[in-house]
Amino acid sequence: MSVTPPLPTSPSNTSLVITYNAMSGTAISDDLMKLCAQLFSQPVKMTASKLRSQSVSIPECTVLVTCFQHEKLVGHAFASVWSFEGGVVGWITQLVVDKSLRRRYIATQLLQTLKVHPLFQRVTAVGLVSSHPAACTALAKYAGVSVHAVDLSFIRENAAKVLEASTVDYLKSGQLRGALFQENVGTGAVSSAFTEFYVDHAEPSKALEKFKARGKWCLGELLEGHEYLALFSVSPLSD
Ligand SMILES: CC(C)(COP(=O)(O)OP(=O)(O)OC[C@H]1O[C@@H](n2cnc3c(N)ncnc32)[C@H](O)[C@@H]1OP(=O)(O)O)[C@@H](O)C(=O)NCCC(=O)NCCS
Repeated sequence: MSVTPPLPTSPSNTSLVITYNAMSGTAISDDLMKLCAQLFSQPVKMTASKLRSQSVSIPECTVLVTCFQHEKLVGHAFASVWSFEGGVVGWITQLVVDKSLRRRYIATQLLQTLKVHPLFQRVTAVGLVSSHPAACTALAKYAGVSVHAVDLSFIRENAAKVLEASTVDYLKSGQLRGALFQENVGTGAVSSAFTEFYVDHAEPSKALEKFKARGKWCLGELLEGHEYLALFSVSPLSD
């Protein structure tokens, strides 16, 4: 289904001709999977088959949103939906935007496009783990809240339940870290998961400084091998 929902914030370059599309995990072709793997390989080497096994573990519970600029894939979001004790979560397993087109609200719009997919009509929470503060911010906007005023008690009460019930293998084994989940933490971490995802934090750290300059950064510091854990309550659209 092709959709052009209104942008939550105006893009800085309106001359871009871009289209967004949300599809079920059951409809993702091998060719499209290859394009997604190539795009994701900008930060981390990835093959189409590995990406499919990681991000489309249960196709009928998965949504892929793509963003094409003309014929070129310039952004995508994989998301899975599952029930946990207390609700239904829509979890973003991968969000990536072409390096040359970042900071044009493509990630924001990819996540907003999830809202039109039937699987997302009934979610009561949305979450992700990511090293990038911009990914957390784009998700906060999905939930209609400011990333500078996160409801940390919601994360404390629900993160473990959400991860335990996860249909995504690496999330089940993700260990919750930070002041929300551990006593006497002296690391500065607040809401994160030890996912053993060792990537260069230079770019996210630079972005983090900008977020801190704009207001309170609620999710704390980012330690090596860790990612921020963002989880927000949302009202089901079907209500
Ligand atoms: C994280 C990522 C997907 C963001 O994509 P994007 O299209 O540039 O994000 P958006 O333009 O929608 O920006 C979302 C918010 O973050 C802010 N932002 C984005 N990049 C930023 C940066 N480098 N520095 C400061 N703020 C930034 C935007 O201003 C916006 O905030 P606002 O609504 O308050 O203005 C992109 O940087 C990326 O692909 N990174 C590599 C892969 C990755 O880390 N993915 C996350 C794993 S799940």
